[in-house]
Order: sequence, then C-alpha cells, then structure tokens
Amino acid sequence: MNNKTNYFDEKLLPTKKEKQIIVDFLYNSLEKFGDPKEAIMACVEYALKQTVSFGGLIAMVKDMDRPDNPIVSCVVYNRTGMNKYIPENILVYIATDKNYRGQGIGRALIEESLKRIDGSVALHCDPQNPAKLLYEKLGFASKYLEMRLYR
Ligand SMILES: CC(C)(COP(=O)(O)OP(=O)(O)OC[C@H]1O[C@@H](n2cnc3c(N)ncnc32)[C@H](O)[C@@H]1OP(=O)(O)O)[C@@H](O)C(=O)NCCC(=O)NCCS
Repeated sequence: MNNKTNYFDEKLLPTKKEKQIIVDFLYNSLEKFGDPKEAIMACVEYALKQTVSFGGLIAMVKDMDRPDNPIVSCVVYNRTGMNKYIPENILVYIATDKNYRGQGIGRALIEESLKRIDGSVALHCDPQNPAKLLYEKLGFASKYLEMRLYR
C-alpha cells in the first residue's frame, strides 16, 4: 500500500472537517474499546490545544492508493504537563481500520510517532485486548495496576 502519514498538533492544525473525520474514524475503528464521540473530540482538541491543555500529537496514516485517501490508522497522544512521578504523555487512542489490520501499520505508526514525543508514555488497555501484545512488543510494561473511582 502506498501510504502517507500526517501529523497534527497545536502548530499544525487540521481543518474542522479533517478533525471530524479523525473523530469519526476513531469512533468507528475503536469499536468496543472506544468512547462516545464527544469524549474522542475532547481528546483530539486537548492534543491540538483547542481547549485549556498541555497539547499533544495526532498522527494518521492515509491510503494514497484509494481516490478518497481514507484514514487507515490513527493515534492520539495527550501531554500531561507532569513528569518524574507521572509520565509526560498518555497514548489515549490508537486504531487501525479493520480491513487494514495485521499488516504492521499500527506498530509502524506508534514507532514513528514516538520519535516526535518527548518523555515517557502511559496508556491503559483492557487486559483481554490483543492490542496488549502489540504494546508489549513495543516495550510497554504494566508495572502498576490502574484503579479508578468513577464519580
Ligand atoms: C490494536 C490495533 C490498533 C493494531 O493495529 P494493527 O495495524 O493491526 O497492528 P499491527 O499490524 O502493526 O500489529 C499487530 C500486532 O499486534 C498484535 N495484535 C494486535 N491486534 C491483534 C489482534 N486482533 N489479534 C492478534 N494480535 C493482535 C499482534 O501481536 C501483532 O503482532 P504480529 O503482527 O507480530 O503478530 C488494531 O487491532 C485495532 O484498531 N484494534 C481495535 C482498537 C483497539 O483495540 N485499540 C487499542 C485500544 S487499547
């Protein structure tokens, strides 16, 4: 596949339409591991500093062989503004279109985008999600048990 990776952050903003396409893509491709669209939009706007935030990064791969150049994989990082005791970044969302999975696209996207990220990266993953294998291959380790108090 002839693909192209685009990066967005506070300095290089997507158009309003591109932003909605990113949110729709993530919503559809995250499937049961996703969030409501408003939550995904909030994360995207945090990464772009379009809300009070420390910014972040959005990276997406497009299939250039198809005339509409659809997104086939996308990752969103949020910067925490912290370090030393909490990692500097959170990998919030990563998804590959289901028709493009298992070709190394998600792995390459994480590897390439990490080159543009300073500091450590945290993420959370359902223990049953096969994505855990991918994260482990990339060097992520689960040192702590994440617990939440929902309010
Ligand atoms: C996780 C995800 C982004 C991986 O994208 P991808 O482009 O298929 O990933 P890659 O092809 O680069 O890597 C696949 C690797 O991850 C693991 N993996 C990921 N998903 C897998 C699955 N459904 N079944 C088996 N292995 C899987 C394998 O170890 C595989 O490594 P291998 O190719 O050496 O066997 C994709 O499966 C996806 O979008 N899943 C739904 C959304 C999701 O779960 N996101 C993560 C939330 S924590």
